[in-house]
Amino acid sequence: MAMSYSTLLVDIDEDGIALVTVNRPEKLNALNADVLSELASCAGDIAARPEIRGAILTGAGEKAFVAGADISEFDGLDPEAGERLSLHGQEVFRKIEDLDKPVIAAVNGFALGGGCELALSCHLRFAAEHARFGQPEVGLGLIPGYGGTQRLPRIAGAAIALELLLTGETITAARAYEIGLVNRVVAAAELIDAARLTLKTILSKAPIAVSNVLRAVRAARSATADGYRDEAALFGALFATDDFREGVSAFLQKRQARFRGS
Ligand code: COA
Repeated sequence: MAMSYSTLLVDIDEDGIALVTVNRPEKLNALNADVLSELASCAGDIAARPEIRGAILTGAGEKAFVAGADISEFDGLDPEAGERLSLHGQEVFRKIEDLDKPVIAAVNGFALGGGCELALSCHLRFAAEHARFGQPEVGLGLIPGYGGTQRLPRIAGAAIALELLLTGETITAARAYEIGLVNRVVAAAELIDAARLTLKTILSKAPIAVSNVLRAVRAARSATADGYRDEAALFGALFATDDFREGVSAFLQKRQARFRGS
């Protein structure tokens, strides 16, 4: 069974580790509808194929892991479509989080917005020294819609998460390590090897025990499941605001946004 995608590169090594690369470097690997649906299929393939034992998720090129949801696809969405997009993105990322095989995000540059949320849905995060993290959505008149309001507080703590979500500020890999957002920071040239080495350690352990760790740890999530629905509804509602239209136009026109609170 071949795994062939138009926006993802997938390479499986002799240890059964799938290296999955989001491959739209000219758009800093932004998540458009094609990338999202292929990530869902790829997670399904990883789950279904016994020869795949773990995965590394990274971005093509040296500049970006994933620079966010594809902002050009936000244009013209109404609140219902916005909420649907959010629920869909949440579902795709949950497929990754729910894998019973370990997944490491190898963050090789910008992980902003949906890109940061994608990294948060992986089990571990390794970052290159030049990686940058942030949830800049408030600067677009939006909030994170792919689970970021739920996972970031869980991973980095409520106070730090609120600071990142409210300021939209971008942080360095060193700061991301300090706040527990990433497990490790390594030189860019060593990033994939470092992730591979850790996966090999994990894969040398008892396979059923490894799967059960992943299942037991994610079991805690069900208590906060409603937060995801709230996130999607609140994300969708913003598509009816003038400030959302202003934020997206400003990004596309490469200018500063002027918000009015309406
Ligand atoms: N959606 C759609 N296109 C995006 C994108 C996104 N999230 N992020 C980057 N791109 C595109 C740019 O529009 C540009 O396309 P163009 O060459 O056709 O004009 C290309 O990728 C390169 O990005 P550019 O902005 O020129 O690179 P830069 O080095 O000047 O800036 C960033 C890099 C990451 C700071 C900047 O691209 C950025 O702010 N991206 C958006 C981040 C964001 O807000 N994400 C959250 C979305 S909810």
